[in-house]
Amino acid sequence: MHLISILDMEGIIEEVFSLAEELKHRAKRGELEELLRGRTLAMIFEKASTRTRVSFEVAMAQLGGHALYLSPKDMQLGRGETIADTARTLSRYVDAVMIRAYRHGDVVELARHASVPVINGLTDLEHPCQAASDFFTMRELKGRLRGVKLAYVGDGNNVCHSLLLGSAMLGIKFSCATPPGYEPQESIVERARALAEESGAEIEVLHSPREAVAGADFVYTDVWVSMGQESEAERRMRDFRGYQVNSELLRHAPRAKVMHCLPAKRGYEITDEVMDGEASIVWEQAENRLHVQKAILVRLLGGG
Ligand code: CP
Ligand code: NVA
Repeated sequence: MHLISILDMEGIIEEVFSLAEELKHRAKRGELEELLRGRTLAMIFEKASTRTRVSFEVAMAQLGGHALYLSPKDMQLGRGETIADTARTLSRYVDAVMIRAYRHGDVVELARHASVPVINGLTDLEHPCQAASDFFTMRELKGRLRGVKLAYVGDGNNVCHSLLLGSAMLGIKFSCATPPGYEPQESIVERARALAEESGAEIEVLHSPREAVAGADFVYTDVWVSMGQESEAERRMRDFRGYQVNSELLRHAPRAKVMHCLPAKRGYEITDEVMDGEASIVWEQAENRLHVQKAILVRLLGGG
């Protein structure tokens, strides 16, 4: 199986959460089981990464396997070898491929031609490993996900899309506030609304941050300028004014924990005071990438 969208986890997410919980406890006790001894994960990064790269690499090492960092610049991919041929070749060497790409379609194409699992490590459309880890973090804190309220303030981007779809799948009340013109993609919102009818989730797409965060258990934000959007930075900085997660906004969500996938642009989408404050759980989020991805790898690579 591939993990391209958070929705690909529908049948396995509970199992992944339980396994992540178990692996986290064991790692804290210093017990590392080599469930993926001798397995190799190829990791292709078209864009920068700190958390995704390090957490996947450490995950493989702790599981007794090995991770290979590959940059398209140094691969024949960068000289015109096709994605399909790259997929066919890598499938002969490694047990899974993780890829961070600009175009979501490229990851879909890679998966179509790979005979090993392909994991999306972020595209322009989704960031499923991030969302899966974040739902795990929320579940750790609340003991459940169904009925919990998650408010997202900022850009209707890749992270927002995966949180939106995942919330719809898991019965979470998801409310987002974006500036006009920066809403999550209509097709994603429609899909989420359809899923919500079955799961009992509630989906709100708004423009008012105050309205979105009212009664929230979690307030989430992400950068205003994602990787690849640098040329729009000036306009975006203007358009997102008023969408900052700061102490004033949090007065409208007094019990909320604050989340950010990181990296943060401090002073823009989030203030220092909030990011370093009592309500912030951003470092727990970052840590849980490791535990959840270990569980994902064990599930996808089939264990020992
Ligand atoms: N949150 C996240 O994916 O971070 P990196 O870009 O550092 O991998
Ligand atoms: N939305 C951000 C997330 C980084 C992890 C980006 O795509 O750059």
